[in-house]
Amino acid sequence: MSAAAGAAGAAAGVAGWLDGVRVCICGGSGGVGKTTTSAAVAAGMAARGLKVCVVTIDPAQRLADALGLDALGNAPHRVDPAPFAAAGLAFADGGELWALQLDAKRTFDELIERLAPDARTREEILSNRIYRELSGAVAGSQEFTAIAKLHDLAATGEFDLLVLDTPPSRNALDFLDAPDRLTQFFEGRALQALLRPSGFGMKLLGRTSGFALGALKRVTGVDLLTDLSAFFRLLGGLLEGFRARAEQVETLLRDPRTRFLLVTSPEREPIDEAIYFHRKLKAARMAFGGGIVNRVHSDQLGDADPGELIARLVAEAGLSKALATRVAECFADEHALARRDRDNVAHLAERLGTSVPLLLVPHLDDDVHDADGLVAVGAHLFAA
Ligand SMILES: Nc1ncnc2c1ncn2[C@@H]1O[C@H](COP(=O)(O)OP(=O)(O)OP(=O)(O)O)[C@@H](O)[C@H]1O
Ligand SMILES: [Mg+2]
Repeated sequence: MSAAAGAAGAAAGVAGWLDGVRVCICGGSGGVGKTTTSAAVAAGMAARGLKVCVVTIDPAQRLADALGLDALGNAPHRVDPAPFAAAGLAFADGGELWALQLDAKRTFDELIERLAPDARTREEILSNRIYRELSGAVAGSQEFTAIAKLHDLAATGEFDLLVLDTPPSRNALDFLDAPDRLTQFFEGRALQALLRPSGFGMKLLGRTSGFALGALKRVTGVDLLTDLSAFFRLLGGLLEGFRARAEQVETLLRDPRTRFLLVTSPEREPIDEAIYFHRKLKAARMAFGGGIVNRVHSDQLGDADPGELIARLVAEAGLSKALATRVAECFADEHALARRDRDNVAHLAERLGTSVPLLLVPHLDDDVHDADGLVAVGAHLFAA
Protein backbone atom coordinates (compact mmCIF):
# COMPACT_ATOMS: atom_id res chain seq x y z
CA MET A 1 0.00 0.00 0.00
CA SER A 2 1.31 3.47 -0.83
CA ALA A 3 2.50 5.73 1.97
CA ALA A 4 -0.38 8.15 1.68
CA ALA A 5 -2.97 5.40 1.51
CA GLY A 6 -3.55 5.20 5.21
CA ALA A 7 -3.30 8.94 5.73
CA ALA A 8 -6.45 10.08 3.99
CA GLY A 9 -7.27 12.16 7.08
CA ALA A 10 -10.84 12.85 8.10
CA ALA A 11 -12.49 11.19 5.14
CA ALA A 12 -15.64 12.78 3.78
CA GLY A 13 -18.44 11.13 1.82
CA VAL A 14 -17.38 8.10 -0.18
CA ALA A 15 -13.80 8.36 1.15
CA GLY A 16 -15.23 7.67 4.62
CA TRP A 17 -17.28 4.75 3.35
CA LEU A 18 -14.21 3.23 1.71
CA ASP A 19 -11.78 3.65 4.57
CA GLY A 20 -9.68 0.45 4.67
CA VAL A 21 -11.67 -1.09 1.81
CA ARG A 22 -9.89 -3.04 -0.93
CA VAL A 23 -12.78 -3.77 -3.30
CA CYS A 24 -15.68 -1.47 -4.07
CA ILE A 25 -18.53 -2.69 -6.27
CA CYS A 26 -20.93 -0.18 -7.77
CA GLY A 27 -24.26 -1.83 -8.47
CA GLY A 28 -27.67 -0.58 -9.48
CA SER A 29 -30.29 -0.62 -12.21
CA GLY A 30 -29.54 0.06 -15.87
CA GLY A 31 -28.56 3.56 -16.92
CA VAL A 32 -28.48 5.15 -13.45
CA GLY A 33 -24.80 6.16 -13.56
CA LYS A 34 -22.83 3.12 -12.36
CA THR A 35 -20.01 3.57 -14.87
CA THR A 36 -19.81 7.30 -14.18
CA THR A 37 -19.84 6.80 -10.42
CA SER A 38 -17.19 4.06 -10.52
CA ALA A 39 -14.82 6.26 -12.50
CA ALA A 40 -15.47 9.29 -10.28
CA VAL A 41 -14.98 7.24 -7.09
CA ALA A 42 -11.73 5.76 -8.45
CA ALA A 43 -10.38 9.19 -9.43
CA GLY A 44 -11.36 10.65 -6.06
CA MET A 45 -9.57 7.87 -4.19
CA ALA A 46 -6.46 8.29 -6.38
CA ALA A 47 -6.55 11.95 -5.38
CA ARG A 48 -6.36 10.71 -1.78
CA GLY A 49 -3.14 8.87 -2.47
CA LEU A 50 -4.33 5.37 -3.32
CA LYS A 51 -3.28 3.29 -6.27
CA VAL A 52 -6.72 2.56 -7.70
CA CYS A 53 -7.91 0.51 -10.62
CA VAL A 54 -11.40 0.95 -12.01
CA VAL A 55 -12.81 -2.00 -13.96
CA THR A 56 -15.33 -0.51 -16.35
CA ILE A 57 -17.89 -2.29 -18.42
CA ASP A 58 -18.91 -0.89 -21.73
CA PRO A 59 -18.25 2.81 -21.02
CA ALA A 60 -19.56 5.31 -23.56
CA GLN A 61 -16.90 5.87 -26.20
CA ARG A 62 -16.03 9.38 -25.06
CA LEU A 63 -15.54 8.27 -21.47
CA ALA A 64 -13.40 5.37 -22.68
CA ASP A 65 -11.32 7.86 -24.66
CA ALA A 66 -10.99 10.11 -21.62
CA LEU A 67 -9.72 7.18 -19.57
CA GLY A 68 -7.37 6.21 -22.38
CA LEU A 69 -9.10 2.86 -22.86
CA ASP A 70 -9.20 1.08 -26.14
CA ALA A 71 -11.76 -1.59 -26.81
CA LEU A 72 -9.13 -4.33 -26.98
CA GLY A 73 -7.51 -3.82 -23.62
CA ASN A 74 -8.26 -6.42 -20.97
CA ALA A 75 -5.35 -5.37 -18.78
CA PRO A 76 -5.10 -2.31 -16.50
CA HIS A 77 -3.85 0.81 -18.17
CA ARG A 78 -2.52 3.87 -16.33
CA VAL A 79 -4.73 6.94 -16.78
CA ASP A 80 -3.03 10.26 -17.48
CA PRO A 81 -3.44 12.37 -14.32
CA ALA A 82 -2.91 15.70 -16.15
CA PRO A 83 -6.55 16.31 -17.22
CA PHE A 84 -7.69 15.59 -13.65
CA ALA A 85 -5.12 18.00 -12.24
CA ALA A 86 -6.24 20.60 -14.80
CA ALA A 87 -9.82 20.05 -13.62
CA GLY A 88 -8.74 20.72 -10.02
CA LEU A 89 -8.19 17.13 -8.83
CA ALA A 90 -4.48 16.56 -8.30
CA PHE A 91 -3.52 13.03 -7.21
CA ALA A 92 -1.69 12.95 -3.86
CA ASP A 93 1.69 11.25 -3.53
CA GLY A 94 1.33 7.58 -4.40
CA GLY A 95 -2.06 8.24 -5.96
CA GLU A 96 -2.48 6.55 -9.32
CA LEU A 97 -5.55 5.91 -11.42
CA TRP A 98 -5.63 2.81 -13.58
CA ALA A 99 -8.50 1.61 -15.70
CA LEU A 100 -9.45 -1.40 -17.71
CA GLN A 101 -12.38 -2.12 -19.88
CA LEU A 102 -13.65 -5.60 -19.28
CA ASP A 103 -13.55 -7.90 -22.24
CA ALA A 104 -15.83 -10.68 -21.06
CA LYS A 105 -14.87 -13.21 -23.74
CA ARG A 106 -11.15 -12.65 -23.18
CA THR A 107 -11.57 -12.96 -19.41
CA PHE A 108 -13.34 -16.27 -19.87
CA ASP A 109 -10.56 -17.48 -22.17
CA GLU A 110 -7.97 -16.43 -19.59
CA LEU A 111 -9.83 -18.40 -16.96
CA ILE A 112 -9.74 -21.51 -19.17
CA GLU A 113 -6.06 -20.94 -19.83
CA ARG A 114 -5.41 -20.94 -16.11
CA LEU A 115 -7.57 -23.97 -15.36
CA ALA A 116 -6.30 -26.12 -18.19
CA PRO A 117 -3.76 -28.68 -16.93
CA ASP A 118 -1.37 -28.22 -19.86
CA ALA A 119 -0.73 -26.18 -22.98
CA ARG A 120 -2.15 -28.78 -25.31
CA THR A 121 -5.47 -29.05 -23.48
CA ARG A 122 -5.64 -25.27 -23.39
CA GLU A 123 -5.16 -24.92 -27.13
CA GLU A 124 -7.62 -27.70 -27.78
CA ILE A 125 -10.30 -26.02 -25.71
CA LEU A 126 -9.78 -22.52 -27.00
CA SER A 127 -9.90 -23.64 -30.61
CA ASN A 128 -12.87 -25.96 -30.06
CA ARG A 129 -15.86 -24.79 -32.07
CA ILE A 130 -18.38 -25.65 -29.35
CA TYR A 131 -16.33 -23.85 -26.71
CA ARG A 132 -16.09 -20.76 -28.89
CA GLU A 133 -19.88 -20.63 -29.21
CA LEU A 134 -20.55 -21.44 -25.57
CA SER A 135 -17.95 -19.08 -24.11
CA GLY A 136 -19.45 -16.27 -26.16
CA ALA A 137 -22.80 -17.01 -24.55
CA VAL A 138 -21.45 -17.36 -21.00
CA ALA A 139 -19.26 -14.30 -21.42
CA GLY A 140 -22.29 -12.51 -22.79
CA SER A 141 -23.87 -12.55 -19.36
CA GLN A 142 -20.78 -10.64 -18.14
CA GLU A 143 -21.53 -10.85 -14.45
CA PHE A 144 -19.37 -13.83 -13.72
CA THR A 145 -16.45 -12.70 -15.82
CA ALA A 146 -16.56 -9.26 -14.19
CA ILE A 147 -16.01 -10.66 -10.71
CA ALA A 148 -13.60 -13.28 -12.01
CA LYS A 149 -11.49 -10.43 -13.35
CA LEU A 150 -11.85 -8.56 -10.09
CA HIS A 151 -10.69 -11.63 -8.24
CA ASP A 152 -7.58 -11.90 -10.44
CA LEU A 153 -6.72 -8.26 -9.93
CA ALA A 154 -7.21 -8.55 -6.17
CA ALA A 155 -4.92 -11.59 -6.13
CA THR A 156 -2.06 -9.62 -7.73
CA GLY A 157 -2.04 -7.26 -4.71
CA GLU A 158 -0.94 -4.51 -7.07
CA PHE A 159 -3.67 -2.06 -6.16
CA ASP A 160 -4.77 -0.43 -2.91
CA LEU A 161 -8.33 -0.30 -4.15
CA LEU A 162 -10.31 -1.90 -6.96
CA VAL A 163 -13.52 -0.26 -8.10
CA LEU A 164 -15.85 -2.42 -10.12
CA ASP A 165 -18.49 -1.04 -12.40
CA THR A 166 -21.25 -3.63 -12.95
CA PRO A 167 -22.89 -4.68 -16.20
CA PRO A 168 -26.04 -3.00 -17.45
CA SER A 169 -28.21 -5.86 -16.30
CA ARG A 170 -31.94 -5.57 -16.32
CA ASN A 171 -31.91 -6.65 -12.75
CA ALA A 172 -29.21 -5.43 -10.38
CA LEU A 173 -29.39 -8.75 -8.55
CA ASP A 174 -28.22 -10.82 -11.50
CA PHE A 175 -24.79 -9.78 -10.48
CA LEU A 176 -24.96 -11.20 -6.97
CA ASP A 177 -26.22 -14.54 -8.14
CA ALA A 178 -23.66 -14.93 -10.91
CA PRO A 179 -21.18 -17.24 -9.12
CA ASP A 180 -24.02 -19.43 -7.91
CA ARG A 181 -25.59 -19.61 -11.32
CA LEU A 182 -22.34 -20.63 -12.92
CA THR A 183 -21.65 -23.43 -10.44
CA GLN A 184 -25.22 -24.58 -10.71
CA PHE A 185 -24.80 -24.75 -14.44
CA PHE A 186 -21.65 -26.84 -14.16
CA GLU A 187 -22.98 -28.94 -11.33
CA GLY A 188 -26.37 -29.30 -12.95
CA ARG A 189 -27.50 -32.83 -13.50
CA ALA A 190 -28.08 -32.28 -17.18
CA LEU A 191 -24.50 -31.27 -17.83
CA GLN A 192 -23.12 -33.95 -15.53
CA ALA A 193 -25.11 -36.56 -17.40
CA LEU A 194 -23.74 -35.27 -20.66
CA LEU A 195 -20.20 -35.28 -19.37
CA ARG A 196 -20.13 -38.85 -18.06
CA PRO A 197 -18.34 -41.11 -20.52
CA SER A 198 -21.25 -43.52 -20.39
CA GLY A 199 -23.72 -40.67 -20.14
CA PHE A 200 -26.49 -39.51 -22.32
CA GLY A 201 -24.24 -37.11 -24.24
CA MET A 202 -21.87 -39.80 -25.35
CA LYS A 203 -24.70 -42.16 -26.22
CA LEU A 204 -26.33 -39.40 -28.15
CA LEU A 205 -23.13 -38.80 -30.02
CA GLY A 206 -22.78 -42.48 -30.67
CA ARG A 207 -26.17 -43.01 -32.19
CA THR A 208 -28.77 -40.92 -33.90
CA SER A 209 -27.11 -37.55 -33.66
CA GLY A 210 -23.81 -39.12 -34.40
CA PHE A 211 -25.30 -40.38 -37.59
CA ALA A 212 -26.84 -36.99 -38.40
CA LEU A 213 -23.62 -35.19 -37.56
CA GLY A 214 -21.69 -37.64 -39.65
CA ALA A 215 -23.96 -36.84 -42.58
CA LEU A 216 -23.45 -33.14 -41.87
CA LYS A 217 -19.72 -33.62 -42.00
CA ARG A 218 -19.92 -35.37 -45.36
CA VAL A 219 -22.03 -32.58 -46.80
CA THR A 220 -20.41 -29.52 -45.21
CA GLY A 221 -17.01 -30.71 -44.11
CA VAL A 222 -17.77 -29.45 -40.57
CA ASP A 223 -16.80 -32.08 -38.05
CA LEU A 224 -19.15 -31.23 -35.20
CA LEU A 225 -19.05 -34.75 -33.84
CA THR A 226 -15.34 -34.58 -33.05
CA ASP A 227 -15.77 -31.05 -31.68
CA LEU A 228 -18.62 -32.05 -29.43
CA SER A 229 -17.01 -35.12 -27.96
CA ALA A 230 -13.72 -33.28 -27.47
CA PHE A 231 -15.56 -30.45 -25.78
CA PHE A 232 -17.30 -32.74 -23.29
CA ARG A 233 -14.06 -34.57 -22.55
CA LEU A 234 -12.08 -31.37 -22.04
CA LEU A 235 -14.67 -29.55 -20.00
CA GLY A 236 -15.12 -32.53 -17.72
CA GLY A 237 -11.50 -32.10 -16.67
CA LEU A 238 -12.02 -28.48 -15.67
CA LEU A 239 -15.15 -28.82 -13.55
CA GLU A 240 -13.29 -28.92 -10.25
CA GLY A 241 -11.40 -25.78 -11.17
CA PHE A 242 -14.60 -23.95 -12.03
CA ARG A 243 -16.19 -24.91 -8.76
CA ALA A 244 -13.19 -23.74 -6.75
CA ARG A 245 -13.15 -20.57 -8.76
CA ALA A 246 -16.77 -19.73 -8.09
CA GLU A 247 -16.11 -20.31 -4.39
CA GLN A 248 -13.17 -17.91 -4.38
CA VAL A 249 -15.28 -15.29 -6.10
CA GLU A 250 -18.02 -15.78 -3.54
CA THR A 251 -15.45 -15.35 -0.76
CA LEU A 252 -14.24 -12.11 -2.30
CA LEU A 253 -17.81 -10.78 -2.43
CA ARG A 254 -18.21 -11.52 1.28
CA ASP A 255 -14.77 -10.27 2.34
CA PRO A 256 -14.98 -7.69 5.16
CA ARG A 257 -12.90 -5.31 3.06
CA THR A 258 -15.33 -5.46 0.14
CA ARG A 259 -18.10 -2.86 -0.05
CA PHE A 260 -21.12 -2.47 -2.25
CA LEU A 261 -22.20 0.99 -3.25
CA LEU A 262 -25.70 1.19 -4.53
CA VAL A 263 -26.23 3.69 -7.32
CA THR A 264 -29.71 4.79 -8.30
CA SER A 265 -31.40 7.61 -10.10
CA PRO A 266 -34.21 9.44 -8.30
CA GLU A 267 -37.01 7.84 -10.35
CA ARG A 268 -39.37 5.56 -8.51
CA GLU A 269 -38.57 2.31 -10.31
CA PRO A 270 -34.78 2.27 -9.78
CA ILE A 271 -35.36 3.48 -6.21
CA ASP A 272 -37.63 0.52 -5.55
CA GLU A 273 -35.06 -1.77 -7.09
CA ALA A 274 -32.37 -0.22 -4.90
CA ILE A 275 -34.46 -0.93 -1.79
CA TYR A 276 -34.86 -4.53 -2.87
CA PHE A 277 -31.16 -4.83 -3.74
CA HIS A 278 -30.18 -3.51 -0.31
CA ARG A 279 -32.39 -6.08 1.36
CA LYS A 280 -30.82 -8.87 -0.68
CA LEU A 281 -27.30 -7.65 0.16
CA LYS A 282 -28.14 -7.71 3.80
CA ALA A 283 -29.63 -11.19 3.57
CA ALA A 284 -26.51 -12.37 1.73
CA ARG A 285 -24.35 -10.76 4.46
CA MET A 286 -22.47 -8.62 1.98
CA ALA A 287 -21.14 -5.32 3.25
CA PHE A 288 -22.99 -2.24 2.18
CA GLY A 289 -21.05 1.03 1.90
CA GLY A 290 -23.81 3.49 1.11
CA GLY A 291 -26.31 4.68 -1.44
CA ILE A 292 -25.75 7.27 -4.16
CA VAL A 293 -28.70 8.98 -5.75
CA ASN A 294 -27.44 10.32 -9.05
CA ARG A 295 -28.95 12.95 -11.36
CA VAL A 296 -31.07 14.63 -8.73
CA HIS A 297 -32.86 17.73 -10.01
CA SER A 298 -32.34 20.94 -8.11
CA ASP A 299 -35.11 23.35 -7.41
CA GLN A 300 -34.38 26.71 -9.01
CA LEU A 301 -37.87 28.04 -8.50
CA GLY A 302 -38.33 27.20 -4.84
CA ASP A 303 -41.43 28.86 -3.43
CA ALA A 304 -41.33 31.70 -5.96
CA ASP A 305 -44.56 32.44 -7.79
CA PRO A 306 -44.18 31.84 -11.59
CA GLY A 307 -46.05 35.09 -12.38
CA GLU A 308 -43.68 37.05 -10.17
CA LEU A 309 -40.68 35.33 -11.73
CA ILE A 310 -41.82 36.31 -15.23
CA ALA A 311 -42.27 39.91 -14.14
CA ARG A 312 -38.78 39.94 -12.59
CA LEU A 313 -37.18 38.35 -15.65
CA VAL A 314 -38.73 41.07 -17.82
CA ALA A 315 -37.89 43.94 -15.46
CA GLU A 316 -34.47 42.87 -14.19
CA ALA A 317 -33.01 40.67 -16.95
CA GLY A 318 -34.61 42.56 -19.84
CA LEU A 319 -36.19 39.45 -21.38
CA SER A 320 -39.17 39.67 -23.66
CA LYS A 321 -42.42 38.50 -22.12
CA ALA A 322 -42.46 35.40 -24.37
CA LEU A 323 -38.90 34.41 -23.46
CA ALA A 324 -39.47 35.12 -19.77
CA THR A 325 -42.56 32.88 -19.88
CA ARG A 326 -40.56 30.10 -21.52
CA VAL A 327 -37.80 30.38 -18.89
CA ALA A 328 -40.38 30.35 -16.08
CA GLU A 329 -41.93 27.21 -17.61
CA CYS A 330 -38.53 25.50 -17.57
CA PHE A 331 -38.09 26.46 -13.92
CA ALA A 332 -41.57 25.10 -13.17
CA ASP A 333 -40.70 21.79 -14.88
CA GLU A 334 -37.50 21.55 -12.86
CA HIS A 335 -39.45 22.40 -9.76
CA ALA A 336 -41.86 19.53 -10.37
CA LEU A 337 -38.98 17.10 -11.04
CA ALA A 338 -37.12 18.33 -7.96
CA ARG A 339 -40.20 17.74 -5.84
CA ARG A 340 -40.65 14.26 -7.23
CA ASP A 341 -36.95 13.52 -6.60
CA ARG A 342 -37.20 14.81 -3.05
CA ASP A 343 -40.18 12.55 -2.32
CA ASN A 344 -38.47 9.51 -3.84
CA VAL A 345 -35.23 10.15 -1.96
CA ALA A 346 -37.20 10.51 1.28
CA HIS A 347 -38.90 7.19 0.52
CA LEU A 348 -35.50 5.57 -0.08
CA ALA A 349 -34.02 7.01 3.12
CA GLU A 350 -37.01 5.86 5.10
CA ARG A 351 -36.87 2.32 3.73
CA LEU A 352 -33.11 1.90 4.07
CA GLY A 353 -33.13 3.19 7.64
CA THR A 354 -31.09 5.87 9.33
CA SER A 355 -27.94 3.76 9.58
CA VAL A 356 -27.48 3.76 5.81
CA PRO A 357 -25.61 6.79 4.49
CA LEU A 358 -26.92 8.44 1.34
CA LEU A 359 -25.24 10.92 -0.99
CA LEU A 360 -26.95 12.98 -3.66
CA VAL A 361 -25.33 13.97 -6.96
CA PRO A 362 -27.13 16.63 -8.97
CA HIS A 363 -28.25 16.21 -12.52
CA LEU A 364 -25.46 18.05 -14.36
CA ASP A 365 -26.09 20.12 -17.46
CA ASP A 366 -23.89 17.90 -19.62
CA ASP A 367 -23.19 14.20 -19.95
CA VAL A 368 -20.18 13.07 -17.96
CA HIS A 369 -17.59 12.04 -20.49
CA ASP A 370 -14.26 13.55 -19.45
CA ALA A 371 -12.05 14.40 -16.47
CA ASP A 372 -13.96 17.66 -15.89
CA GLY A 373 -17.26 15.81 -15.64
CA LEU A 374 -15.84 13.11 -13.37
CA VAL A 375 -14.31 15.75 -11.10
CA ALA A 376 -17.66 17.57 -10.98
CA VAL A 377 -19.46 14.35 -9.96
CA GLY A 378 -16.65 13.51 -7.52
CA ALA A 379 -17.03 16.89 -5.81
CA HIS A 380 -20.46 15.71 -4.60
CA LEU A 381 -19.35 12.18 -3.79
CA PHE A 382 -16.48 13.34 -1.63
CA ALA A 383 -18.16 16.39 -0.10
CA ALA A 384 -18.07 16.73 3.66
N1 LIG B 1 -24.90 13.41 -12.58
C1 LIG B 1 -25.06 13.33 -13.90
N2 LIG B 1 -25.48 14.41 -14.60
C2 LIG B 1 -25.64 14.33 -15.94
N3 LIG B 1 -25.41 13.24 -16.67
C3 LIG B 1 -25.00 12.14 -16.04
C4 LIG B 1 -24.80 12.13 -14.62
N4 LIG B 1 -24.39 10.89 -14.27
C5 LIG B 1 -24.34 10.16 -15.41
N5 LIG B 1 -24.71 10.89 -16.47
C6 LIG B 1 -24.84 10.45 -17.86
O1 LIG B 1 -25.88 9.48 -17.88
C7 LIG B 1 -25.59 8.44 -18.82
C8 LIG B 1 -25.64 7.09 -18.12
O2 LIG B 1 -24.58 7.03 -17.20
P1 LIG B 1 -23.72 5.69 -17.02
O3 LIG B 1 -23.24 5.19 -18.32
O4 LIG B 1 -22.71 5.98 -15.97
O5 LIG B 1 -24.86 4.75 -16.44
P2 LIG B 1 -24.77 3.17 -16.17
O6 LIG B 1 -25.55 2.90 -14.94
O7 LIG B 1 -23.36 2.74 -16.19
O8 LIG B 1 -25.53 2.62 -17.42
P3 LIG B 1 -25.57 1.08 -17.94
O9 LIG B 1 -26.49 0.36 -17.00
O10 LIG B 1 -26.09 1.19 -19.32
O11 LIG B 1 -24.16 0.56 -17.86
C9 LIG B 1 -24.24 8.79 -19.42
O12 LIG B 1 -24.44 9.45 -20.63
C10 LIG B 1 -23.61 9.74 -18.40
O13 LIG B 1 -22.72 10.64 -18.98
MG1 LIG C 1 -22.40 1.26 -17.38
